[in-house]
Amino acid sequence: MKKRLKVIGGILLLALTGIQFVPVDRTNPEIEDEVDWNASETKELVKRACFDCHSNETEWPWYSYIAPISWRVTEHVSHGREHLNFSEWNRPNEDLEEIKEKVEEGEMPLWDYLLMHSDAKLSDEEKAALLRGLAKTFESDPPIERRVEGQ
Ligand code: HEC
Repeated sequence: MKKRLKVIGGILLLALTGIQFVPVDRTNPEIEDEVDWNASETKELVKRACFDCHSNETEWPWYSYIAPISWRVTEHVSHGREHLNFSEWNRPNEDLEEIKEKVEEGEMPLWDYLLMHSDAKLSDEEKAALLRGLAKTFESDPPIERRVEGQ
């Protein structure tokens, strides 16, 4: 019995070591065109709660270096950036309506991200301030409409 456990443990350890070599994209591309913030307070709030997945200024946490967690983190960042990237305002991005919905329904930031980043959790007042700030920001620098193709 003991021997069997050791063998299983050994195989698991080998597998865990092996998957560390699967390449993951943990890059921060250049900031192409940052949105023109209405106020630094708005940027601060968005930076706190959204930038890690919706900008090119991701702060990669230590666990993003450990597979298989790293796969989930990098997937979130690349999908997040595809939808909305405050560092690539020259490209199509989600609009205020969509952002409002996700923030008010508590779908964004993602819940598992909040487990590790309690500082990204926004109070109701902070959520309202973030949305007010973004409304003003988008008045003068609106997002390019995002055409959703087959998804
Ligand atoms: C941990 C990463 C992460 C954080 C932090 C995060 N998001 Fe997201 N966000 C995602 C991912 C991943 C998607 C793509 C979801 C999908 O493919 O359904 C997304 C999608 C979105 C969308 C498009 C929704 C849709 O389904 O079309 C909006 C709007 C959005 N996020 C807003 C925000 C805002 C605003 C914040 C900050 C308050 C934020 N997100 C924080 C990961 C994140």
